[in-house]
Amino acid sequence: MAKTKMPKNKTADADVLPPEVRPGQSIELLKALHILTREGKLNQDSRRKLKQVYHLFQFIDKLLQELPTSEQGPTLADHGAGKSYLGFIIYDLFFKALGRGTIYGIETRAELVESSRALAEHLGFERMQFLNLTVAQSAQSEVLPERIDVVTALHACDTATDDAIAFGLQKKARFMVLVPCCQAELAAHLRQNKALNLNRTALAELWRHPLHTREMGSQLTNVLRCLYLEAQGYQVTVTELVGWEHSMKNELILARHTGQKKRVAAERLLALLHEFGLGELAASRFPALPAGLLAGSSDSPEVATGSVASSVIP
Ligand SMILES: C[S@@+](CC[C@H](N)C(=O)[O-])C[C@H]1O[C@@H](n2cnc3c(N)ncnc32)[C@H](O)[C@@H]1O
Repeated sequence: MAKTKMPKNKTADADVLPPEVRPGQSIELLKALHILTREGKLNQDSRRKLKQVYHLFQFIDKLLQELPTSEQGPTLADHGAGKSYLGFIIYDLFFKALGRGTIYGIETRAELVESSRALAEHLGFERMQFLNLTVAQSAQSEVLPERIDVVTALHACDTATDDAIAFGLQKKARFMVLVPCCQAELAAHLRQNKALNLNRTALAELWRHPLHTREMGSQLTNVLRCLYLEAQGYQVTVTELVGWEHSMKNELILARHTGQKKRVAAERLLALLHEFGLGELAASRFPALPAGLLAGSSDSPEVATGSVASSVIP
């Protein structure tokens, strides 16, 4: 599609648009995202959607403003971007006026990557790039710079959030903003070892029923992610994405790089894995943990629970 700069009258004009639309905001974008109707109106559904998007944006906006000024401007990678509405809104509300900085959208579905590229070109959002790659592949891509300031992953499926964390660690991200999706991997392991664990520990009652297996797997996954981030030098805040009530997946994990790697977080992570009979996952899922701790951790729950857990319980 030929690049067309948007004429001035295609950005928000406070006199004729709903008050929720901010001055200078791209009307074309809001229509393309189906937030505004063709007539430039908001219905009840889209008003709620816009409120949600603003709510998430307000977290990211604060982080972007904290970044040190640089010639090339901030870099942000959005993993599992889907239709990239998050990236587009961030670009429109922050990067556009800033005049520098780049947003990268990583997405496996080629047709979504294509449509995002076309929309960015149509809107003249020149510093948005869309890569048809998995999150894991993107960590090796030469298109991306060595360092990325902010990593976002909004409902990136299953282990894509873990890949986004690995990406953020590799790219020395200053901030990571993660809203995890459903997570099946840990639940599958809990299910597999259920009988063994029920014999071993009363704790296994927490995931005996299939519904609890899924919920516990999901909860444990996010707890382990937080500990991993803390062990890698991030300060972690977990909060609720208010306004996302319609979704069960409204946990927002905000990680800020401090450089202080917490050994106790690494120890607790391993202790939890062993308590849940998941010690075998330690090296593959959390490879950046201190080698000494990983080497000392055993696949045998009994051995490991005694050695690791007791060393960290205050
Ligand atoms: C539930 S959608 C969320 C899309 C968007 N972030 C949002 O919140 O609207 C998850 C997206 O992640 C993509 N995805 C899943 N696994 C991925 C992976 N390993 N790497 C990159 N994208 C992935 C899917 O194709 C899908 O578009």
